[in-house]
Amino acid sequence: MKQPPSPDLRYLFEPRSLAVIGASADERKIGHSILKNIIDGGFKGEIYPVNPRGGSILGLQAYPDIGEIPGVVDAASIAVPADLVFDAVKDCVRKDVKFGMIITSGFSEIGKTAEEREIVGYANSNGMRILGPNIFGLYSSVASLNATFGPGRISPGNVAIITQSGALGLAMIGKTAVENIGVSAIVSIGNKADVDESDLLQYLVAQTRTQIIMMYMEGVKKGERLIKILMDSTKKKPIVIIKSGRSERGAIAAASHTGSLAGSDKVFDNLMRQCGALRAESIEEGFNWCKYLANNPVPGGEETVIITNGGGIGVLAADACEKYSVKLFDDNMRLRETFSIATPDFGSTRNPVDITGQATSRDYDSAFNAALYDPHINSAIGLYCETAVFDAANLEHLVVETYESFLESRKPIVFSLFGGEGTEVTLRSLAKQGVPAYGDVYEAVSSLGAMYSYYRNIIERAGEMPADSMDMKGLSDMQSIISNVLKNDRNFLLAQEAHDLMSIAGIRMPQSATARNLDEATVLAERIGYPVVMKVVSRDIIHKSDAGGVALDLENRGEVIDAYQAIMRNSRANVPNAVIEGVEIAEMIKEGTEIIIGARRDRTFGPIVMVGLGGIYVEVLKDVSFRAFPLERQEIMNMIKEIRSYALLLGVRGEEPRDIDALIETIIKVGYVIINCREISDIEVNPLMVYEQGRGAMAVDARILLEKSEVR
Ligand code: ACO
Repeated sequence: MKQPPSPDLRYLFEPRSLAVIGASADERKIGHSILKNIIDGGFKGEIYPVNPRGGSILGLQAYPDIGEIPGVVDAASIAVPADLVFDAVKDCVRKDVKFGMIITSGFSEIGKTAEEREIVGYANSNGMRILGPNIFGLYSSVASLNATFGPGRISPGNVAIITQSGALGLAMIGKTAVENIGVSAIVSIGNKADVDESDLLQYLVAQTRTQIIMMYMEGVKKGERLIKILMDSTKKKPIVIIKSGRSERGAIAAASHTGSLAGSDKVFDNLMRQCGALRAESIEEGFNWCKYLANNPVPGGEETVIITNGGGIGVLAADACEKYSVKLFDDNMRLRETFSIATPDFGSTRNPVDITGQATSRDYDSAFNAALYDPHINSAIGLYCETAVFDAANLEHLVVETYESFLESRKPIVFSLFGGEGTEVTLRSLAKQGVPAYGDVYEAVSSLGAMYSYYRNIIERAGEMPADSMDMKGLSDMQSIISNVLKNDRNFLLAQEAHDLMSIAGIRMPQSATARNLDEATVLAERIGYPVVMKVVSRDIIHKSDAGGVALDLENRGEVIDAYQAIMRNSRANVPNAVIEGVEIAEMIKEGTEIIIGARRDRTFGPIVMVGLGGIYVEVLKDVSFRAFPLERQEIMNMIKEIRSYALLLGVRGEEPRDIDALIETIIKVGYVIINCREISDIEVNPLMVYEQGRGAMAVDARILLEKSEVR
């Protein structure tokens, strides 16, 4: 049946009118809290309590049935027990309600998936969408709508929060107040049976109020779509993601919590990076990043200076910069020119710039000004260790003034202050004023690092070009190999079939063919090109080497003739009754850097690819990184750079650099195959020998599996 068009999310975030089904006069009930929050929050539209008793609740007329409400109802909050929810949804459909927010718990999160599906299916097929179930509701500053049963007071601002966990989400509302974070929207998605984070991202990215989006996620359901939407969204606004389930135990807990599978965390982590989303380690870090990104300018470049009165704390900050990928300005001549005015002889103008323990607020002031006016410096980290000589009464003023002038010049800055009670008091006061000053150096640098990740994401992806796509010729040849495999009721390709398919895709594999006599052997060897290897072909000879049936590294026609005769002689002598079909002539594989490429059709994220150090080491080292297709060259390069063994490709101990372009090409081609051949579920190329620059790469072995509907 054709689905009616999906209503615009504005009906949810900016409804003209809202019904609360299950509104109650009883203060202990959730339906009461929601109604009270809506009224107290100053919602601009009409509010309709619905309760079978009718009468008046919190000063508003209550309707026994939503059908009796005189005007239109754009959205409804549904807070009745689980067994009454479906009827409430049916009533909403009759009233042409566009969005239902089902607060009620007791659906897929406790295994009642069929019930949940039935409700959502019914709603969707009648043009209504569902938020939830199992949610605390929604706050939308644009409509002054607080339809949650959380805290009553939420300060409007520019950070939007999407949360899969209800309890954590409610706690986050409290935290926004403590942290002085203004919020544009808070949405609880609970079981996300219908409206999910991707729908919400699309709306919030387009909404002018929202400047930054923070998502707390436990599991991903429609990952392929999420990737596409994130790719686009992160070009427009920073998106901070906190995802539980990093650990194996956490992943299991998250799966049972929301009824969705967390999937491999490594895959998730890599794909988020690919999308340009910023993944925070903890809620605390996520909040710090949101606050920093929401209120500070994006830098004009990568050069950062650390200004400190303590050597030790300066070193800690430099360590933190490495961890969070903040680049330190290292033009020492320039640094000396800029900072000698503020640095005593026994200090250091190298980065970290150490104005020493005798620095006063005036010294800091001149160092900060030097950084501010130097066009080569794009951002700063100001560090302070409490000392007896520093005029502590000026500390707060110094930090606030510096921060304001950096803001004005659109240069990001963070501060870390370390000391006793006086310093702590200053820190608290600065936090209230929204100045990014932290007790811990790592916290300070982590926020600046998040800003730089966002900056790089914008810069790198501005000129993003899709990877060269291959022409479609060959696709039908690949399809006919696959059809043949399916006809034979197999879900894997035989070695020769995989070889043929890879060759059609343009992936170089060792050439080989079987010669039935000496003449054929010499002709084939010439065609394949020397050096070649030869192996006896006989199903009766299992241990070919032991039988003297193998010859390696044959350089010319003469050697091929000798080897052919020797193989025949040895094989007949060692296995007298063997039926010999011929001799396989194959290209001799040269040594190269062994890389593994694995592609699979992931159930959550669609076609994804893995690259890593191959051969026998892959299982042990697990030095791999992941991305989702389609991929452009720069992103494939980023992926390759992420593996620890990247240095091997650059050439170590005088070795020549490897042909990274050929590796990129191979990944693109593997992607082409898995994207276009929908029946293929897995491709593994291991090893791919990557040779010196300009000499290409060769797939020594390829395994290809097909989707088996009954298994997957
Ligand atoms: N239409 C309108 N109102 C109705 C209907 C109906 N068809 N049927 C019953 N009601 C009224 C009830 O009469 C009652 O009003 P009253 O107090 O005037 O009698 C009101 O709706 C509520 O019904 P109750 O049976 O009293 O249900 P109760 O409020 O105890 O529980 C609730 C309902 C809150 C939805 C509960 O079932 C539930 O799911 N609680 C969990 C909610 C939750 O935690 N969600 C996840 C949030 S995220 C997190 O983890 C924090």
